[in-house]
Amino acid sequence: MNVYVGSANPGFAPYAMEELRRRIRGTKLSGLAPGETFTFTSGDQDDESLLKDLRRKEPIFLRHLFPVEAENEVTGDREEMAARMKAYAATLGDRMKGSKVAIQVRKEQNSPFPFTSAEGRDELVPVVTELGGDAVAREADWIISVYASKKKLLMGCSLPRDNLSDWPGGAVRFRRDEGLISRAAFKLLEAERSFGIQLDRFSNALDLGAAPGGWTSVLLERGLKVTAVDPAEMDPSLELHPNLRHIRRNAADVSFAPGTFDLLVCDMSWDPHHTCRLVSELAPAITAGGSGIITLKLMYRKPLQSIDELVEDYSYYFDVRKVKQLFHNREEVTIWVKRK
Ligand SMILES: C[S@@+](CC[C@H](N)C(=O)[O-])C[C@H]1O[C@@H](n2cnc3c(N)ncnc32)[C@H](O)[C@@H]1O
Repeated sequence: MNVYVGSANPGFAPYAMEELRRRIRGTKLSGLAPGETFTFTSGDQDDESLLKDLRRKEPIFLRHLFPVEAENEVTGDREEMAARMKAYAATLGDRMKGSKVAIQVRKEQNSPFPFTSAEGRDELVPVVTELGGDAVAREADWIISVYASKKKLLMGCSLPRDNLSDWPGGAVRFRRDEGLISRAAFKLLEAERSFGIQLDRFSNALDLGAAPGGWTSVLLERGLKVTAVDPAEMDPSLELHPNLRHIRRNAADVSFAPGTFDLLVCDMSWDPHHTCRLVSELAPAITAGGSGIITLKLMYRKPLQSIDELVEDYSYYFDVRKVKQLFHNREEVTIWVKRK
């Protein structure tokens, strides 16, 4: 039985823990950073089948995990902490030889751990190199994870796919371009990457609740024609774009010919059940096999129950492919559906 460190978006660890409790018989859970990180055990399940199962059907709120292979007490002593990390890394010989290795060091707020992420990494690079590994930032064969809580130094090494995300703690970072219209654009970029959707494969998109146009601008950049529906104004930089048609209306008051679009995206700040009804009414305008990427606001007290209900409602017109709280989602999750 292994112990794992799990991470979720701030405030959502209780839901990530609840999901794991439902899925892993006999798991033992324990909080680390309140609301964000925790440990869990593989319970009655063998580790390989647990990881396979988590990959096959990704939990909604668990963003990242890594196995704990070494555990020490945390102190503020630089030499001691460096020695602990190096002693662990030195045990990884067979995994390091000839491999690209990412080193991800994180610490909880108020942890006495004396290194920043970059400093912690720098301590370990010589060990990895000596063992015949190549320390890289991305696209690694192995990831060494170090997590310092207030009390514990937890370390492990795993394949990127077994962490659910190859970003430290699942915190996906995009470069903030000068011309970015809204931070909301990151949500669509992250959905594209996490769900493995190639947006440039679509040609005609319907964007509901599109203003000021972050998602629309991503779709236009990918070469799609976009029909944006929102009573609010779009960013002036988009208004004259030849591939954009802006309909300044409530999404409840529009209709389109059957099969007009092969992609629907929707990021309306609205009750998720209303949004679902509205999207369902517009479903005939989406071609069979077309995709939908929709954010579901979590405004009710029991998010897991709300999500179950919404998945059932979306299933009438759509196959639900993924539901995930992305790193860039705040009080919401993102759902990817395909038109039946
Ligand atoms: C979070 S913003 C969308 C941000 C956008 N995805 C972006 O990337 O810039 C939500 C938008 O939904 C719009 N909205 C809310 N209810 C709507 C409705 N019933 N019909 C159309 N738009 C709506 C609001 O006017 C607002 O502009």
